[in-house]
Amino acid sequence: LSEEKVIIHFINQDGIRTTTAVTEGQTLLDVVVNKNLDISGFGACEGTLACSTCHLIFDKTFYEKMEPTVDEEMDMLDLAYGLTKTSRLGCQVTVQKWMDGMTVQVPQEVRDAVGSKGSQ
Ligand code: FES
Repeated sequence: LSEEKVIIHFINQDGIRTTTAVTEGQTLLDVVVNKNLDISGFGACEGTLACSTCHLIFDKTFYEKMEPTVDEEMDMLDLAYGLTKTSRLGCQVTVQKWMDGMTVQVPQEVRDAVGSKGSQ
């Protein structure tokens, strides 16, 4: 039995697009960690709903098919920078087959670049 891969495209905070092929059942936080995606500061609380650094923006069509956001997630999202109507916390979204071809976007950083990369 060959593992089915779901294709997910990530656009990071620099606007750089990465395409990943992942198995079902992982969260999007798992994907970012396992695939070593270059998204600085992502998933600071390791999926315990104690931060909003895993904030991702989804296409409306995919967003509407997802399980509803629970209160705890909503509370953290309220603190997220650049919240949109189709925002979710990546650690709360589990990859499913119907998400094949989905694009998720990391909010673009506008705050001051503290310890920014490229300075070394
Ligand atoms: Fe902290 Fe998702 S990683 S809330």
